[in-house]
Amino acid sequence: MIHAAFGGLTPPSGVLKETVADFARRQREGFVLVAMVDERFAGSMFCAVKDGALYLTRMATHPDWQKRGVGRALMAAAEQEARAMHLPKLLIRVRKNLPGNLAYFSKLGFAVTGEGADPGRPPYDVMERAL
Ligand SMILES: CC(C)(COP(=O)(O)OP(=O)(O)OC[C@H]1O[C@@H](n2cnc3c(N)ncnc32)[C@H](O)[C@@H]1OP(=O)(O)O)[C@@H](O)C(=O)NCCC(=O)NCCS
Repeated sequence: MIHAAFGGLTPPSGVLKETVADFARRQREGFVLVAMVDERFAGSMFCAVKDGALYLTRMATHPDWQKRGVGRALMAAAEQEARAMHLPKLLIRVRKNLPGNLAYFSKLGFAVTGEGADPGRPPYDVMERAL
């Protein structure tokens, strides 16, 4: 499901090289939220505490379910979890070459607070949403 969601990105996302073991490791570092429709995975989001925030990675909605509110529901669940953990904000990294995602997270209330780049990977904006 995650590979299907990220499959259309250019240049290809590093997610596509990740295996079940990688996703399991990510889950152990925090927790994963999943959206189900009729017992099938429609979306997911990995969450971990980082820099005093709930850090969200690999947010994905299956292509069959995009733009139907799954992402918004995942974000609402992440907000609920962060509040329960008394964390003051949500944090996400958004690749600079994906302006659609910048627009998407802006619409969900996030603002750019920084930027960065990992070796060999496209640069990204750091976006945060205060709770
Ligand atoms: C980003 C992603 C998770 C969004 O999930 P989604 O389930 O389609 O999002 P939603 O349906 O909840 O959209 C919420 C709102 O944003 C809007 N929206 C969706 N995609 C958008 C975009 N690219 N730009 C601007 N707005 C967008 C929707 O129309 C909706 O608006 P509404 O609530 O007023 O109707 C999904 O497009 C995806 O899996 N993309 C590929 C993987 C990826 O890039 N993940 C993010 C990594 S940082």
